[in-house]
Amino acid sequence: MPVMSAEAVSVLEMRGQHRAAKILRQVPTTGAELATDAVDELGLKVHRELSRLGEELQLGRRVASMVGALLQQLGLGTVTPVRLVDVGCGLGQVLRSIAASGELPPYLELVGVDMNPVLSAEAARLARVENLDVRFVTGNAFEPGLAIGDGPRTVVLSTGLLHHLAADQLVAFFQAQAELRVAAFAHWDIAPCVWSTLGAWVFHQARMRQPVSRHDGVLSARRAHSADVLVAAAEQGAPGYVVDVREGSRWHPRALDVLRPIVGVRG
Ligand SMILES: C[S@@+](CC[C@H](N)C(=O)[O-])C[C@H]1O[C@@H](n2cnc3c(N)ncnc32)[C@H](O)[C@@H]1O
Repeated sequence: MPVMSAEAVSVLEMRGQHRAAKILRQVPTTGAELATDAVDELGLKVHRELSRLGEELQLGRRVASMVGALLQQLGLGTVTPVRLVDVGCGLGQVLRSIAASGELPPYLELVGVDMNPVLSAEAARLARVENLDVRFVTGNAFEPGLAIGDGPRTVVLSTGLLHHLAADQLVAFFQAQAELRVAAFAHWDIAPCVWSTLGAWVFHQARMRQPVSRHDGVLSARRAHSADVLVAAAEQGAPGYVVDVREGSRWHPRALDVLRPIVGVRG
């Protein structure tokens, strides 16, 4: 979709996001529009840096361990395939790392969904280069049926997606999965607290190079949803599910606890 650079800058200025406006002014334009190639290339760079964060937070190992436990709890066996779907998968680092490690049983079908076609195409390319059996498709988390088909033998996960959704979109997000009658969902996102904001700043200064990554990393921690907000939205959108947020200690969080899951299991 064409984006007029000056309009986007003025929206950011109006919202008081002067730093973001300054970063956006540096993005090349074609005429008055942001240059598509430059925006796509920037998106790839930012998500490559984000994959590094996923590695440092050991997301693949942690997701695999929780999904393994969920499969056992749900009694989802080996007879017909079980599908594990990562919505908002970005470059697919989590599923690619699970596939490469062999930590989960081979009867799992791994599917990554992202609404940005540039990212899903790059995730698919990386899976091919790494010779991994993971499928990546373009799709919207609000219409997961389009991308993943039937639900009862499906577990849906995400990492770092929920803070991209506004509070008033959360109910619809959980509803989309409940309508598909997925067996379970587990969505990892930033626990908003002073530690995660401080940690995000330190980590992004130390490990990220793109100004967008550094800026949005801290903003992401600040705009993340509290456990109460997430549970209320999940209970409203997916009433047939037993839901809880698996938080670590609030006052002495380990670095890994900065990203914690909201888990729902169909009753
Ligand atoms: C912060 S990135 C996280 C990427 C990846 N999960 C990770 O942990 O590195 C958020 C991703 O969600 C995707 N996204 C945002 N809204 C979405 C939606 N409604 N449906 C599908 N993907 C979405 C974005 O394109 C982006 O790739």
